[in-house]
Amino acid sequence: MSAPLDLRIFPDRPALFQAAADEFVRQARAAIQSSGRFTVALAGGSTPKGLYSLLATHTAIPWDKVRFFFGDERHVPPDDPESNYRMARETLLSKVPIPSGDVYRVPAENPDAGQAAQSYEHTLRQFFQTPPTTFPRFDLILLGMGPDGHTASLFPGGKALQERSRWVVADWVEKFKTDRITLTLPVLNNAAVVMFLVSGEDKAETLKEVLEGTQPADLFPSKLVRPTDGKLIWLADQAAAAGFSRRPS
Ligand code: 6PG
Repeated sequence: MSAPLDLRIFPDRPALFQAAADEFVRQARAAIQSSGRFTVALAGGSTPKGLYSLLATHTAIPWDKVRFFFGDERHVPPDDPESNYRMARETLLSKVPIPSGDVYRVPAENPDAGQAAQSYEHTLRQFFQTPPTTFPRFDLILLGMGPDGHTASLFPGGKALQERSRWVVADWVEKFKTDRITLTLPVLNNAAVVMFLVSGEDKAETLKEVLEGTQPADLFPSKLVRPTDGKLIWLADQAAAAGFSRRPS
């Protein structure tokens, strides 16, 4: 029996980002209280910029207890305009007192994307110290959703969707003619909390399909994110949630 859908709809982007920041702080406090640290995998793309900028103004987070990771990365150096790390650094990581050693970025400057993925997986295994056949349990994984239903760098038809043992893989993304490096579904689905941030009318049809539709899940990879023992939270603005009759929160 799957948990009831936790979809929170907000009138606009500022309200969406505020709610996302509040949830981030809530999860950080809970994790730090129970384990002394907060492990969070950041989402890339553009939507999270508003959240990260807001978090950068938060004084209520003990940043020295936070460990930052990335849900996926483009196959570019860290100073490339396309880099998710660069986006997070510019909007958040450079603005709050985070020891540089507490930010674990994907070494996507490696010309061999597969090696970059293996290296990142090694970094994660060293950090989480879980037995070989298990998966890391992030306190929070932030995700976005593309208009095609992709999330992280898990794209429709991508080989990465089939991965059931590796924690991190590289996958060729035909539509962008590039490799991407991504956490795999077993890792996403082992998280304590997964929070999607979805904004914009271009996502409305896909969000409706992902949350209520019956098309095959591998055509809409966001459908495959179902934490086995964790919370799944969807935060959407009214534009993205146009297909849902409920009023904004
Ligand atoms: C990336 C992200 C990707 C993103 C979606 C949605 O590397 O781009 O990981 O999965 O979350 O493409 O992007 P927006 O939220 O910017 O629309």
